[in-house]
Amino acid sequence: MSVSSFGETTMWFFVFVIIPLSGNPASACEMTFSPPRIVVEFGSPFVANCSSSSCNNVVGMGWETPLIKGGLKKNVSSLPLNVIKVEVWDPAPMCYITFTDNAPQKLKTLQITVYQIPTRVHLNQSHWGPVSEGRLYSLQCDVDEVAPAESLSVVWYKGGKKLSEKESESEKEASSLPPKNVSLLVELEADRDDDGSEIRCEAKLNLSSDGRSPPPVRSASQKLTVIYPPTFIQPGNETLEVTSDAKITLNCTAAGNPSPTYTWHFAQFTYEKMKQLNKNESILTPEFASSGIYSCTASSPLDQKTKYFTVNVASGNRTAFAAILGGFVCLGAVLLVAGLVFVTPNGTFSFPKGNSGIL
Ligand SMILES: *[C@@H]1O[C@H](CO)[C@@H](O)[C@H](O)[C@H]1NC(C)=O
Ligand SMILES: *[C@@H]1O[C@H](CO)[C@@H](O)[C@H](O)[C@H]1NC(C)=O
Ligand SMILES: *[C@@H]1O[C@H](CO)[C@@H](O)[C@H](O)[C@H]1NC(C)=O
Ligand SMILES: *[C@@H]1O[C@H](CO)[C@@H](O)[C@H](O)[C@H]1NC(C)=O
Ligand SMILES: *[C@@H]1O[C@H](CO)[C@@H](O)[C@H](O)[C@H]1NC(C)=O
Ligand SMILES: *[C@@H]1O[C@H](CO)[C@@H](O)[C@H](O)[C@H]1NC(C)=O
Ligand SMILES: *[C@@H]1O[C@H](CO)[C@@H](O)[C@H](O)[C@H]1NC(C)=O
Ligand SMILES: *[C@@H]1O[C@H](CO)[C@@H](O)[C@H](O)[C@H]1NC(C)=O
Repeated sequence: MSVSSFGETTMWFFVFVIIPLSGNPASACEMTFSPPRIVVEFGSPFVANCSSSSCNNVVGMGWETPLIKGGLKKNVSSLPLNVIKVEVWDPAPMCYITFTDNAPQKLKTLQITVYQIPTRVHLNQSHWGPVSEGRLYSLQCDVDEVAPAESLSVVWYKGGKKLSEKESESEKEASSLPPKNVSLLVELEADRDDDGSEIRCEAKLNLSSDGRSPPPVRSASQKLTVIYPPTFIQPGNETLEVTSDAKITLNCTAAGNPSPTYTWHFAQFTYEKMKQLNKNESILTPEFASSGIYSCTASSPLDQKTKYFTVNVASGNRTAFAAILGGFVCLGAVLLVAGLVFVTPNGTFSFPKGNSGIL
């Protein structure tokens, strides 16, 4: 019992006293990198400095990496790593310190991200043609040869406005991996307002939290085509009140893709006049306005819509004259009736007899 207890005490003594005496307490001897993290484009140079502090009994320091032919550098407290050209995707350079007292080497890996901006970014049209209004369509952005793929995000723009953003779903394994081809897609509902708008996508690499990242790579723009049935821009029928000498303009313009064709109909016209009328025009300006209902049909392979124009033609200045004349005739009639009722034959003013008792 007492022997075992003594043994334990000796062991604890060893742990707390003997090791600190060896001169390299794990807590005191530190290695730091400057800069602490490297972000470098494949094929470019970089410099990093490994520094040690509070380390005793140091033989020397070294870098272990496929980037350079290293080796132990004796009697130094810092050692730079000077790489002319990074041509390894995951170099993971390690800085180490060797001690005189056969204590294990101290190691630390420098965090390094080797990136490659995509060689090509494009909207893949095999998934994308004319689309019907209300349908879902996908915009696939293909990003070729990008590294590290897990830092990629794609932004889609419609007419210069940001439409959507998506991050790559590549797994965050090692910090740097060989380039990959990545395809990301968004699904959108087709809207007629988007017909003819320019779509593009942009590939971004987010390599550091402080925003220092290579500039984004843009795809070429593609025109979006949305097909939709004819729709009158001002819906509803129209009623026009005009005088005979006024010109009328019947505007049947309808939006639609494919663009609609137009046919006109007016029941009051003869066959010959109808033929002149039946032109493929969205706006009709008849030579002479005639009262009646004109109809216009806008047709496309998708649908057809009809709009009615009710035209009421009044006969010019005669109308006003007739109105004034009509007014006078009415007034005359009223005066005549009043005269018959209120005025006695001898010219004095009187009320009908039945009412005199009341007054
Ligand atoms: C590396 O760091 C040490 C200490 O921090 C400094 O004395 C030395 O000049 C640096 N070397 C280079 C090449 O920057
Ligand atoms: C190691 O460097 C220290 C000071 O930097 C110097 O005093 C010592 O002589 C050097 N030893 C060797 C073996 O170069
Ligand atoms: C478009 O994407 C499809 C599958 O997603 C692929 O097979 C095709 O090669 C791509 N087209 C282009 C031009 O990259
Ligand atoms: C990526 O795509 C390009 C062409 O689109 C092809 O040449 C290349 O081999 C692909 N790379 C990988 C890693 O699949
Ligand atoms: C970039 O990534 C860092 C973390 O890796 C994150 O904090 C930061 O918000 C990201 N920036 C953008 C613009 O996505
Ligand atoms: C236009 O008039 C026609 C026929 O009178 C009618 O069927 C239709 O509903 C009207 N349209 C509108 C939008 O008022
Ligand atoms: C016809 O209507 C359309 C749509 O409302 C409008 O853009 C166009 O200017 C009009 N045309 C005329 C001649 O009024
Ligand atoms: C009608 O006019 C439109 C636009 O001017 C044109 O695209 C269409 O082909 C024409 N249709 C017919 C049947 O003439």
